[in-house]
Amino acid sequence: MSLETEVAKPGDTDAFWKAHDRDWRSELWNFRVVWHEQTHDLIAREDGEIAGALRLRIAASLGHVDALYVVPAHRLRGAGRALVTRAEELSNYYNCHKVTVPVFHEHAAQAFFLACGYAVEAVIPQHTFKLDVALLRKFLL
Ligand SMILES: CC(C)(COP(=O)(O)OP(=O)(O)OC[C@H]1O[C@@H](n2cnc3c(N)ncnc32)[C@H](O)[C@@H]1OP(=O)(O)O)[C@@H](O)C(=O)NCCC(=O)NCCS
Repeated sequence: MSLETEVAKPGDTDAFWKAHDRDWRSELWNFRVVWHEQTHDLIAREDGEIAGALRLRIAASLGHVDALYVVPAHRLRGAGRALVTRAEELSNYYNCHKVTVPVFHEHAAQAFFLACGYAVEAVIPQHTFKLDVALLRKFLL
C-alpha cells in the first residue's frame, strides 16, 4: 500500500467536501443534524458613509461574530455597539440562544464587548498568532 499526501489545486477538493461536509461534522461532534450555516453582512452608515461592518455566521442555533470593523474616524460614536445589537437581534430571530466572538485577551476589543454585555467564557493560551484568546459570549434568552 502506498500512501501519499499532496497540496490540492484550487477547486480540486470541492466535490469531496460537497460529498462529505455533513459527514465529517456529524462524526466529529457525534451529532447527526442537517448542518446549515448562513452568513449575514451588516453595515452601519453615518451620513450615508459606511462607518463599519459586521459579518455574522449562524450555525446550529449559535451566532458567531466572524468580523467586525469600524473605521477609526467613526469610532466611539456607537457604530460598533449598533452593529453588535443588530447581529444579536438577527441571531435571536434565527433562534440562537448565544452569540460568541474570539478576541485578543485583555485588549481593546474585549473591553468593547464587555461594554456590550458580553462575558469571558474561556481563555485559550497562545491560540491565534500565538496570542491568548478570550472566547466571549452573550446569552440572548
Ligand atoms: C472594537 C470596535 C469595533 C469598537 O467600535 P466603536 O464604534 O468605536 O464602539 P462603540 O462606540 O459602539 O462603543 C461601545 C462601547 O465600547 C466601548 N469601547 C469602544 N472601543 C473601546 C476601546 N478601544 N477600549 C475600551 N472600550 C471601548 C465604548 O466606550 C462604549 O462603552 P460605553 O457605552 O460604556 O461608553 C472598533 O474599535 C474596531 O473596529 N476595532 C478594530 C477591530 C476589532 O477589534 N474588532 C472587534 C473584534 S471582531
